[in-house]
Amino acid sequence: MQRRPGVLFARGVCFVSVFVAALVTLAAHTDSTKRTNRGWWQARGRIAVPMRRPAPTSVAASGVISPSDGQSPQPGLLPPIGPAVRDFLEGQRLFERETFGGNGRTCLTCHSRETGTVSPQDARLRFQKDRNDPLFVHDGSDDDDGDGFGDGRHVTRMLKSATILMRIRLHDDVELKGHPEIREITVRRGIPTTINTPSLDDVLMLDGRQPTLQAQALGAITDHAQATRSVTQRELDLIAKFQQTGPQFFSSLEVALFAFTGQHAPGLPRGRTASEKRGRLFFEDVPPDFSVTPPNFKVGACAACHSGPMMNQTNQFLPLAVPPGTRFQSVLVSEFNDAGNPVMDFVFRNQKHDLDPATNQDGTPDGIIEVSSPDPGRALITGQADDFFPFPPGSFDQLNAFKISPLRGIARTAPYFHDNSARTLEDVVEHYRRFFLIVSDPDGPGPAEPLIQLNDQDKKDIVAFLKLLD
Ligand code: HEC
Ligand code: HEC
Repeated sequence: MQRRPGVLFARGVCFVSVFVAALVTLAAHTDSTKRTNRGWWQARGRIAVPMRRPAPTSVAASGVISPSDGQSPQPGLLPPIGPAVRDFLEGQRLFERETFGGNGRTCLTCHSRETGTVSPQDARLRFQKDRNDPLFVHDGSDDDDGDGFGDGRHVTRMLKSATILMRIRLHDDVELKGHPEIREITVRRGIPTTINTPSLDDVLMLDGRQPTLQAQALGAITDHAQATRSVTQRELDLIAKFQQTGPQFFSSLEVALFAFTGQHAPGLPRGRTASEKRGRLFFEDVPPDFSVTPPNFKVGACAACHSGPMMNQTNQFLPLAVPPGTRFQSVLVSEFNDAGNPVMDFVFRNQKHDLDPATNQDGTPDGIIEVSSPDPGRALITGQADDFFPFPPGSFDQLNAFKISPLRGIARTAPYFHDNSARTLEDVVEHYRRFFLIVSDPDGPGPAEPLIQLNDQDKKDIVAFLKLLD
């Protein structure tokens, strides 16, 4: 993997010199409230092959690099200041430098230019440089209520796991056991990267709770930055547009072009080494291979959830009661709780699938499901914890379910999972070894063997392939 820094650097230079001008120009043509790639998977329905989107009229007609305001962008230089450029630069200022009279944080405090996130290593370096870095105040400090110390001492959690304390409002059907008066809980979550997401994902936040980039930014400014001045709609629009056009928000040229044209969806890299090619088999949209004995359930095992151009949605081969294009699943991260986060007891009421006593699995009164979890994820937003129905096989897209992560550029954005519990890609794949031993075991503790058992070679192959994704 020696070659990667070189490749990344070359791509970075390429982006900056050629694309700033083009992207700025495109920004002028794109209405920020209309996300160009919004919901393309919904159109996909049950079709296996990712659909090519029709070209958006305004952009396609003139090609990607279309000069605006009658001025030709010059590669390598900022184009002459026109309204579109001014908006771009103002968006950049709002994202990188504006504190809104708050605790000193900006978006860049947590979404760095290089990786779109912050790792524990980054946090440690920043702490060495400046122990008063605003990363360590408020919900970045050790205070469990997220009220923060900002004294440069209570930084253990940030230095160790780089997680942020997120306050989540409970759905009306959810309460903490014994404390119905508490309507908001605190969970510890990693910072998802802003690479690729603002342009190519309309599911925002790890639990999908924010409807738009503007609403998301307002939440961040109010909660993370503790703003003391009001924020205008225009400022929110400019932040959104900046995140959809700035070169640092794309993992590769190919992905940027896809975002702007809706065409040429990036495919799976072929792989050069034998190991990379074997790793690729896990990501192909194929059913299990029954032509061999015993059947091979490993092929396509990762693609079942990491399918589509951004590798973040289910395909038709996931053997669960969810349609292709589903964006949430549980992969047992909260269940294993390797991060060792505090576990809370929840009561979910009005559960549709707990009404029949014959199917009432947890021994509680009808319609009530009790669960313990460090972070139930999507279920806190939808109020549903009964996703083991329709049974079998269940849908598993609510309780402890999180947004299926996109995987392009993944080698750069460690640590992984919603609680940052996997430090490296090797840790991720070891997690999936344990995951598949449980979910692919036909008879639980019975004599039948799990269908998917990842061995050491599989694990190396998968990691080798993941490192190719850009
Ligand atoms: C204190 C650190 C912090 C700051 C400051 C911050 N964010 Fe975030 N950001 C997070 C965390 C943590 C999440 C995920 C939280 C969750 O899902 O509950 C997130 C999520 C996001 C997402 C959604 C990512 C996804 O995969 O769905 C976007 C977009 C985003 N932030 C943009 C911004 C913008 C714009 C700003 C500035 C206005 C900002 N953030 C400020 C920590 C931060
Ligand atoms: C059942 C659906 C499902 C399957 C199968 C699946 N994933 Fe995932 N993947 C997810 C979900 C959901 C997340 C986010 C989980 C969380 O944070 O709790 C995720 C997260 C990840 C992440 C971390 C991304 C990040 O930015 O934190 C990687 C890497 C990953 N998966 C790779 C794989 C590989 C490799 C395989 C096959 C061995 C695989 N996945 C199989 C659903 C799935």
